[in-house]
Amino acid sequence: MFPIRRNRRLRNNEAIRSLVRETIITPNDFLVPLFIVEGRGVKEEIGSMPNYYRFSLDLLKDEVKTLWNLGLKSVLLFVKVDDKLKDNKGTEALNPNGLMQRAIKTVKDVCPEMLVMTDVALDPFSSYGHDGIVEGGKIINDATVEVLAEMSISHAEAGANFVAPSDMMDGRILAIREALDQSNYIETGIMSYSAKYASAFYGPFRDALDSAPVDMVDIPKDKKTYQMDFANRDEAIRETEMDINEGADIVMVKPGLCYLDIVRDLRNNFEIPIAVYQVSGEYAMLKAAAEKGWLNHDSVMLEQVTSIKRAGADIIASYFAKDVVKLIS
Ligand code: PBG
Repeated sequence: MFPIRRNRRLRNNEAIRSLVRETIITPNDFLVPLFIVEGRGVKEEIGSMPNYYRFSLDLLKDEVKTLWNLGLKSVLLFVKVDDKLKDNKGTEALNPNGLMQRAIKTVKDVCPEMLVMTDVALDPFSSYGHDGIVEGGKIINDATVEVLAEMSISHAEAGANFVAPSDMMDGRILAIREALDQSNYIETGIMSYSAKYASAFYGPFRDALDSAPVDMVDIPKDKKTYQMDFANRDEAIRETEMDINEGADIVMVKPGLCYLDIVRDLRNNFEIPIAVYQVSGEYAMLKAAAEKGWLNHDSVMLEQVTSIKRAGADIIASYFAKDVVKLIS
């Protein structure tokens, strides 16, 4: 008799759909990016990221408590650094009393159990807006790696649980692992941005931190000599395999939605936690379309984060984390 199989039986009503649903989003899936600025009482909205804010340390405390109460237990910290403190070597990144170091302590003070991850790259500290040291029109790999290793120790010293190198220099995971171990930070983990693409989706983030590459002679205008070409797929496997061999505890694909094929490739190739960063431009796109009334914000948001998890992500770094958790609770 035709048809012997009727797949629609499993879609008939919400009860059966929820019974056979393969991917469930929970607060445990999320890592919350936070932007931090100097000052007191500052909560400023980021122009290209509606309803997302930079916080000064005092207000960061309230935000962290709010997140914890929502069941969000991990944060990823980024700092917006004063222009006067920026130089080519990102010297300020190593200041034991710098904004990042104080931010780590602030989170740990108000919420000791909150998992703190920190961005490790020079761009917010670089007068040229690059993730590494610039010399003769090039981003210098090995000298940059040395700074990244010192920066990681400094974050560990301040209390970070994981450092998250987002720079894409070669060999940095091994250098960071060795540096942490030599300083006896054997419990500090590394979440490596292992397949990070040179993407135009990072625009709003660079607004948030004022960290875009500067427009100057002899300074590369983009990050294509270190971040990956978005046309490449096999290269993501090579990059990730190297980072795992160098000691990464968690690997990451970034951005998210346009790169879900890469997420699935990694899932099929490696048995290691995979994080996906749903980046600022992805957030901005949905906010803009929803503001215009062209897309239903909440439905599209849930569809997007579910797709990221379905593709194979164990962890989703997302500016939507709070909104999603409020929606599903
Ligand atoms: C810095 C860094 C960037 C992002 C995370 N870490 C920007 C860049 O590489 O230019 C982007 C995150 C986002 O767009 O949400 N190395």
